[in-house]
Amino acid sequence: MPLHLGTNPLTGDPVRLPEDALLRHVVILGATGSGKTVLGKAILEEAARAGVPCIAVDAQGDLASLALAPTQESASRHPAPPEAVDGYWSRASVAIFTPGSGRGTPLGLNPLRAPPPFATDEDAVVYLDALAESLAAGLGYDTRADLGGRAKDVVYLVLHDAWARGRWPGDVPALAALLEKGGPAQAETILTKRERAALVRRAKSMTVGAKGLLYTAGPALDVDAMLAWAPPGRTPLNVVYTGGLRNPAERDLVVATLCKEVYRWMTAGPSGDLRLLVYIDEVAGLCPPHPRNPPAKRFLTLLFRQARKYGVGLVVATQNVTDLDYKALGQVNTWALGRLLAKQDLDRVRHLVSALHPAGSEAVLAAVPSLRTGQFVLLSPDHLDGALRLEVRGLASQHVVVPEERFREVQSTHALAGVAVPEGPVERRRTRLATTAAKAARMEIRADVEEGIGLRVLRIFEDLPGLFGPADIVGMTGTDERFIGILLRKMAEARLLRAEHLEGRDVYWDPTVGFDPRRGAPAKAAFLPLRVPLVEATRQAKDHLRRRILVLRDERLARKDFYYVPLWRVEAEMALGRGRGRLGKTFFVNAVTGELAHTTGGRLTFEELPRKDARRLEPLAPKGLLDSGPTAKVGDPVVRGKVGPGQAQEIVRKSFGAKPVAEPPELVLLPVWRFDLESRSERKTRPLWIDGTFGTALRSPPEGL
Ligand SMILES: Nc1ncnc2c1ncn2[C@@H]1O[C@H](COP(=O)(O)OP(=O)(O)O)[C@@H](O)[C@H]1O
Ligand SMILES: [Mg+2]
Repeated sequence: MPLHLGTNPLTGDPVRLPEDALLRHVVILGATGSGKTVLGKAILEEAARAGVPCIAVDAQGDLASLALAPTQESASRHPAPPEAVDGYWSRASVAIFTPGSGRGTPLGLNPLRAPPPFATDEDAVVYLDALAESLAAGLGYDTRADLGGRAKDVVYLVLHDAWARGRWPGDVPALAALLEKGGPAQAETILTKRERAALVRRAKSMTVGAKGLLYTAGPALDVDAMLAWAPPGRTPLNVVYTGGLRNPAERDLVVATLCKEVYRWMTAGPSGDLRLLVYIDEVAGLCPPHPRNPPAKRFLTLLFRQARKYGVGLVVATQNVTDLDYKALGQVNTWALGRLLAKQDLDRVRHLVSALHPAGSEAVLAAVPSLRTGQFVLLSPDHLDGALRLEVRGLASQHVVVPEERFREVQSTHALAGVAVPEGPVERRRTRLATTAAKAARMEIRADVEEGIGLRVLRIFEDLPGLFGPADIVGMTGTDERFIGILLRKMAEARLLRAEHLEGRDVYWDPTVGFDPRRGAPAKAAFLPLRVPLVEATRQAKDHLRRRILVLRDERLARKDFYYVPLWRVEAEMALGRGRGRLGKTFFVNAVTGELAHTTGGRLTFEELPRKDARRLEPLAPKGLLDSGPTAKVGDPVVRGKVGPGQAQEIVRKSFGAKPVAEPPELVLLPVWRFDLESRSERKTRPLWIDGTFGTALRSPPEGL
């Protein structure tokens, strides 16, 4: 599937880059604010749509916003093609990894996790040398200096010896033990006794204290795990956030370890097809030109040179072409040039442009300074004809910096997250019930599951409230599917969870926290149309103020909010009485309050039991007139549901004597504006709600009090 990156501003034609171009690597160049990260995100979104798993290194927190669906506002500022939005939100699952911290999914860096996969000594030498370099740097040595260089040599010799003898040290403490023992004879003379003792001491202290968190804060970085956690049918998009690290050396180490693991992973299973995309935003400092040679550069150059034949594509973004080593640059086939203003920056890309596009290099260089944000010149000699102008499409996600505190909430996995210790009697009771349910499930099927699985599953429903089926939970825990199916049933029996049947499968939710209808089932929602935009809603709110008899003095509109209230559309039949047959009727049940939503004379009303005869009620909208789309892509807040689809049918049956048809309820989102009316002299505010479809001013919140 070609990647739809945007349009050509000169012709209006769509710009599509063949997926294979990613295998020959991409560099995005441009000044700050030229739109590099937006282009990188467009590539990631398109890769995810095409089913290509991604790992993206994020130094600033703006890649984490790949997990945020657009809001009404952001979507109107940067409209995105609907198929890009739908495709992305129905395929991508985003995880945010935070090395050395628990802010997102914690990640450890065990640099020695597994031995090098090579058959030949020659391959191993390159790899072990790079590994020794990154270990020595991690131990605090400056490997360009004499002592650091010698320390690195000793580490290399000890590792090589261990590898050759099949005695690989699995972690840093094991390496410390090897260093202490002495290693091969050559290594003996490189360091003095005191120097060697210092090396051993450093190795021993590497995994303790604040510094050690980077190595021990979570499960070790593992590419297989990063590609396996997403639920079936979804593409994992892994964001590795390096913004929380203390210094550039740590960032270098994270990227070095990541690239090393990608290298190990790809060489273990050769394949020519694109099967992983690695994106590094702001690559400056990680792959600098000769003579600088930090650990990340060692492994990055390995990837640039070899990734193609193993089906791995690299995309990097940076402000300056001189941020990158020329050997790595030589491996790159696709260039996106964004706005560059300084003459010296332009001079630096001159020879590059003339090499890539000799015939039109002057025209390209003339165009680059006047490019606007989000505009690029694409040069890809093997994949595109000539120089192509690109205006990057609006993103399917928001483009904002996500604060670290929100990582856990916005990411779509808890695959590797830890379990917090519960407090209070209610919490303790829930913990006990969850543990008992897990034990009972284990009695039925002997699965290899961890001790705390019951509690961990309960936490998923608390932290990420949604309507989840066994497959979703398997995706988030990596546990046996048959076991999870039984466990969920047991948890429902213990009344920890409520069971529902939706979209032909069993799904569950936690009634103590409700469910966010954007997670798990249903995959799609219908939308009541937004017919009352903000200006119109504001006008109505003002009218409402004027018409009121009891107006607070100098009242004005202070704040506005936009959100959705979930409703269930329940189709039912009502008997017309004495052999006159049945009447099909559409009911809308508020998924938060259980009230019935209907209109009287065009005004929206919520009532528990309508005064009108249910047969004469006007439905909100005939089914089939509603737009529908993936629930996951709804970026504006949605009120949490407290009434499941089964209950909604029950309400229709009991309150109106109607018989729900077999067709399961559909989720329908009602747009709502909320205003705060503020009186300055009386220091009072009161809220007013206006629904976005009918424009009815509501005195109490549609989601109940
Ligand atoms: N969803 C979006 N789609 C397209 N462009 C956007 C979107 N959101 C923001 N932008 C524009 O891109 C600008 C910044 O681009 P960015 O990629 O962050 O620059 P940089 O080159 O520094 O990485 C924003 O200030 C905004 O004008
Ligand atoms: Mg950027």
